Amino acid sequence: MIVTIDGVAASGKSSVASGVARALNIPYLSSGLLYRAATWAALSQRLPLTDAAPLLSLLNRWEADGTPLTLRPLPQGNEIWVGEQNVTDLLHTTEVDAHVSAAAQLPELRAWVDAQLHRISPPFVAEGRDMGTAVFPQAQAKFYLEASARVRAQRRVQERPQDLESVEAALRLRDERDARQSAPAPDAVHIDTGSGTLEQIIAQVLSHLPAPPTE
Ligand code: DC
Repeated sequence: MIVTIDGVAASGKSSVASGVARALNIPYLSSGLLYRAATWAALSQRLPLTDAAPLLSLLNRWEADGTPLTLRPLPQGNEIWVGEQNVTDLLHTTEVDAHVSAAAQLPELRAWVDAQLHRISPPFVAEGRDMGTAVFPQAQAKFYLEASARVRAQRRVQERPQDLESVEAALRLRDERDARQSAPAPDAVHIDTGSGTLEQIIAQVLSHLPAPPTE
């Protein structure tokens, strides 16, 4: 089974996706982490993000050298490794935040991320922007999470105290930049994460899943 959970930035996708995956006892895949990892790779090697070719040749070279950039969907969360080095902690910096939308516009990088995800065998819950549309259109259950920019900004401020107005403005800007990838699948169930607890939202998702086949 493949379950896809897409939605706008800070809509609670990763918390919901990991909770749903835990309830189903299957892994969850964070596609955003792969975009972040590729962005970090480009920044660390001072490669431009206006052209995918140098970045793709770096990623291919790492793979050929036996130190590939890989997503590891572990029970405690997704990790990114380059060969034997765990780089996960380097992927949520303000620098990566500032550049990842630009990287995610590159069609060649999107194809690379899609290929990494397609290497993983189901079942899983895949979380991102285009999981139910471009990457896993055949998924058995698709969800699209949304919430107002104010609610999402308040959530971010709770995680880390900062100015609410500027967080909200930055989120709106990211929404615009990500809009092309973020259109909901026509067959996705829409869930507003602005009200209700995380447990209630997870339960709502689970209630829409097809019942397992009986013998
Ligand atoms: O989910 P996140 O915030 O970690 O995602 C990081 C960036 O990657 C975000 O700017 C949108 C982009 N992204 C995308 O374009 N397609 C996806 N499937 C997942 C993320």
